[in-house]
This record gives sequence, structure tokens and C-alpha cells, in this order.
Amino acid sequence: MKVQSKSIFGKSLSRRNFLRTTTAAGAGLLIVPAATAFGYKANSSLGLGIIGCGGRGNYDGGEFVANTDVRVTALMDIFEDKVLAARANFDKKAEEKGHGKIAETNLFKGHKSYEKLVQSKDVDLVLVTSPPYFHPDHLEAAVSAGKHVYLEKPVATDVTGCLKVMNIGKKYNGKVSMHVGLQKRYDVGYRGMIERIHAGEIGDIVLGQTFYYTNDLGRQNKPGMIDLEARIRNWVFDRALSGDILVEQNIHILDIVNWALKSHPIKATGTNGRALRKQVDGVPADYLCSDHFILTYTYPGDVHISFNSNQFKNKGYRQSGERFFGTKGASDSLQSGPATISYNQVAEGQKTADKIDCGKVDLHAAVGTKMKALVESIKTGKFDNQCEHGAETTLTTILGRMAAYEGHEVSWDKMMKSNEKWNLKLNLDSLGAGSTVTMR
Ligand SMILES: NC(=O)c1ccc[n+]([C@@H]2O[C@H](COP(=O)([O-])OP(=O)(O)OC[C@H]3O[C@@H](n4cnc5c(N)ncnc54)[C@H](O)[C@@H]3O)[C@@H](O)[C@H]2O)c1
Repeated sequence: MKVQSKSIFGKSLSRRNFLRTTTAAGAGLLIVPAATAFGYKANSSLGLGIIGCGGRGNYDGGEFVANTDVRVTALMDIFEDKVLAARANFDKKAEEKGHGKIAETNLFKGHKSYEKLVQSKDVDLVLVTSPPYFHPDHLEAAVSAGKHVYLEKPVATDVTGCLKVMNIGKKYNGKVSMHVGLQKRYDVGYRGMIERIHAGEIGDIVLGQTFYYTNDLGRQNKPGMIDLEARIRNWVFDRALSGDILVEQNIHILDIVNWALKSHPIKATGTNGRALRKQVDGVPADYLCSDHFILTYTYPGDVHISFNSNQFKNKGYRQSGERFFGTKGASDSLQSGPATISYNQVAEGQKTADKIDCGKVDLHAAVGTKMKALVESIKTGKFDNQCEHGAETTLTTILGRMAAYEGHEVSWDKMMKSNEKWNLKLNLDSLGAGSTVTMR
């Protein structure tokens, strides 16, 4: 008999929230005349402020513009060149739609200037696409200014940060919408597959094989940069700024495991290493991210899930996905799709197993669907709150990281009591504390 675990707050995990948001996503936008708790008028378009204007800030911002009536109205980044490049990108998109440019007074540079962006009257919704180390502070600033948030994953890099995000979720529940960038839950193929798993079509899951293999990532520093700037630009290689590859990137896979099992793991063992990643400019050697993890998670009911990942230098094998093996069948979902449910029980006289195609995995489309759901939740005043879900999945990755770093089994309970907190003590003021960008 499988034990159905409780969520961190003691109620059943995110299926209810998931169903609410995905059902809403399919229903199209509902326009209601009422203003929201913070005075937003449902019939006007939302102004989006972006904290962290790198690759994902530009991508997510573009997806908001493409899929909803959101307008990008404010930009903030620690570096001026990032603000200017994003401004050019979003002004072009605005022009194509016949909208005005972003006001110069809404362009902010310097690490403290997010405090100004969240105060802008032109901002209703804040997209947080800064490095994960800063996420809890950036989320807190936005919601305490009464703004809705789309917070990219992971929600934090350590246990203390995850607890902070959960507390923020509790405090602002029902006051603003808070989404976390775990978009796979909005993918048509994944939803079809998980619905079948939850309906018992493969029986009870007894084990799983999960993996995320990808290439090494591009270096962002330029010759002559001081170490601190190079470190921030190369944050994705820095385990304190990013959480390491398991927390920062591999999180998408473990989110599917938690979803399929409606639970979080009770313990983990594993190992990690740096087989090929020996040096990255600006990143101190003892902060350098791993280039691979090999883990075993145990879920309630003694369900064992293996997880392997790498970010290797060569342009070699690149694939990610999840395979669940149940008492009646198996599922197989690969990022390249399609996600399928295949039955390994064959009826009498039947030669091959039935295979059901649950739909193509299209994570680009899933992002748009998620953004529509967020905007709808704001417009209807039925605010979504994904803080607990985001924190629980982030903690799942932190559990695996802790087990690998410590080299022995770590339980969920021990992790939750660990008070783990990474304090970087970086003097970011030396890169400029904050001001509006001077346009040239
Ligand atoms: N959901 C997804 O599939 C997905 C995909 C890619 C990235 N992400 C997430 O998006 C976030 C950003 O990743 P990215 O790929 O855009 O990285 P990036 O390096 O391209 O962009 C990050 C930006 O943040 C800026 N920045 C650094 N420190 C800052 C600070 N203190 N305050 C404000 N800005 C700061 C950087 O200058 C940079 O422009 C990460 O959390 C990442 O995990 C999510």
C-alpha cells in the first residue's frame, strides 16, 4: 500500500492548484469589471517590469507580449548593457504592435535598483529572471509593493531561501498572483501523460529512471573584466549564485517526478563531480558547479527514482526525460517528445504492447499557456499561488545536492532542519548600487 505524502504545509500537494491553473488556462481570458486587490483594472493591459534582462528575461518577456496583452514597461539589470539590449528588443516588439517605447525613467541599472522598478506605477506584474541566489529578495520586494510575479525557477539556492519563499506565499496568498517558471506542468503531452498515470493506467509506480544530459554552457565574460563582474556574468557556473546544475537546470525533471508521484522524496543518496569542468573565469575554484550528478531518490511507498545528469563539453548526447515503471505498465516522456504511455502488460493472444501517444512535448507552447493562465488569474482576481509548489520542487533538488555534497544519505526531515544558508558576502556596490540608465 503506497503512502500518500503530505506537502510541506501538511495539505495535499499541488494537484488542486495545478488543476485550477490548467483548467483556467484552457478556458480563455475572462474579463471582469472589478478591480483587483491592488487596484488593477481588468480591462486594461498589464505593465510588465523585468528584473534580470538576460536570455530568459528577453525570452519570457517576449512570450508575455506574444501570448497576452501584457506590455513591457520597465527594465532592470545589474549591468547597463543588458538593460539597453533588452530595451532595443522590447521597443521593437512594441513598435510592431503600435505601442509606445519604454519610458527612460523606467530603465534601471545596478543591483539595488529593483527596489525602484517594483515601485513604478507603470508596473503591475514583475518577471524575476535574475540569478537564483537573488530570487527570494526580488520576489519579496515585488509582492510587498503589491505587484504580481512570475518568478523563474529555482525559487532559491538554499533551504533558508526556500522557506522564505514559502512564507511569502502564505503571507500574500489571495492578495497577488505568484507563478513559478516550471512550465512543463502546462505542456499538453505531459498533462495527458500525468492524467493517465493519476488515473492508475500504469498501476502503482514502483521505480523510475530520469535524466538530463546536455552540453556545456557558454561563457559570458569578456577579456579584461574584473573578477566580480566575470563571476556575476558567469553565474550559471557558480554553485552559490545558481544552486549548482541540479537545482538550476535539472529541476524540471524532478518537478515531473513529484507531480507523477504527488509527493516529495523522503531521502536521497548520490554523488557529483567535475570531470571536464576545471575552470571558469571569475568563479572561485571552490564555488565551481559540478558537471554531473548521479542520484537515487526514495519516495513514500519505497518507490526508487534514479536521476543522472551532465553538462559535458562535447557536442555529444543531448536528451532529458522521465520513465516510470508501474505494476500495470510504463510511461516514457522525452523532451523531444512525444510523451507516451506504453503498457507492458500484453493481453492473451496479443503480440505487442499497447502504446498510447499522449501528445507532443512542446515546452515553448507550454510557456505561452502558463503566461495566459497567470494573466487570466490576475484579470479575474482569482490569484494563483505557486510558491509552495516551487519551493517544494526546489527543495527536492537541494536534497539531492546535499546528499551528493555530503557523500551519504540525507532525509527530507534532516534537510528541512539544516538551516542551510549560503551567504555570498559579495560587494555588489562596487559594480554600482543603482540608478536609472543614462541613455546615449
Ligand atoms: N524555465 C526555464 O525553462 C528557464 C530557462 C532558462 C533560464 N531560466 C531561469 O531564468 C533565470 C535567468 O536565467 P538566464 O538564462 O536568463 O541567465 P542570464 O545570465 O542570461 O540572465 C540573467 C541576468 O540577470 C542579471 N543579473 C545578475 N545579477 C543580478 C542582480 N543582482 N539583479 C538583477 N539582475 C542581475 C545578469 O546581468 C543577466 O542579464 C534563472 O533563474 C534560470 O534558471 C529558466
